[in-house]
Amino acid sequence: MEIIKEPSELLKYIKRRKPEYKSIGFVPTMGALHQGHISLIECSKRENDFTICSIFVNPIQFNNAQDFILYPKNLEEDFKMLENAGCDLLFMPSAESMYIEEPRIKIDFGSLELVMEGKFRPGHFNGVAIVVAKLFHIVQPDISYFGQKDLQQYLIIKQMVKDLTFPIELKSCPVIREKDGLAMSSRNQRLTPKGRNVAAKLNESLLLAAKLLENSSVENTKAKVRDFYKNIKEIKLEYFEITDSETLMPIKDVKEHKGIAICVAAYVDGVRLIDNILI
Ligand code: PAJ
Repeated sequence: MEIIKEPSELLKYIKRRKPEYKSIGFVPTMGALHQGHISLIECSKRENDFTICSIFVNPIQFNNAQDFILYPKNLEEDFKMLENAGCDLLFMPSAESMYIEEPRIKIDFGSLELVMEGKFRPGHFNGVAIVVAKLFHIVQPDISYFGQKDLQQYLIIKQMVKDLTFPIELKSCPVIREKDGLAMSSRNQRLTPKGRNVAAKLNESLLLAAKLLENSSVENTKAKVRDFYKNIKEIKLEYFEITDSETLMPIKDVKEHKGIAICVAAYVDGVRLIDNILI
């Protein structure tokens, strides 16, 4: 696996080598890799003859300084996992090389960013969109892979690609989970053993809601899920939403929508976790 750290060097590399490949697949990450990330690499490997992964803990998408400082780092293990998965190139730029000065542009995603993650993490999606746009310009992939785990992020990037005519195809890949249903996340490393056990309740609540929605209204389902969380003192619920899977707007009646996303964000041991399922 080749490793390139300088954006200008990767630009030169891509210019020289791109004609050799039928298609370049790209998986942007912030490192502390787990099987969820690797599943995206594997998907890219199947569909492209060259796969690039980036590891960059993007400072401008963290609205909470502590979360940025405490973001897990595990570079040696990351290299091994990427090498084993057959990743061809790893791009790991420094913050200085990505941000010579602080970007002034602000990207407004309208209603898509006024709910859930956008609502509770002001500025987060602006930072995500800027870094992904920069990475797309440097890597110039044909296809880029994102996890359904961050559903709102995927929809935001899809909107950006459409509005700004990036010549890139996007793919969303399924959530990879631990045996007890907990969605894999780099932040899971920060949980205490007790918190780790309790964290599986997040997925349990999503499955409970999906079951309840078969026979009860959205309102009743949400009330029952709130009761479910009342009994778990280790979890501080931030939001639990039943939404349209394209617009992410909260819904009133399941029957009126083609796809539904049930989404949750909560703190366990002070660590913020998110999860969702599509029905
Ligand atoms: P990060 O949290 O490292 O995630 C990188 C990619 O892995 C994202 O597309 C995310 O949705 C996906 N992913 C995370 N956990 C997953 C799981 N359990 N199953 C499947 N896919 C999973 O998301 C980011 O980084 C950043 O915001 C980034 C897009 C790199 C921009 O900085």
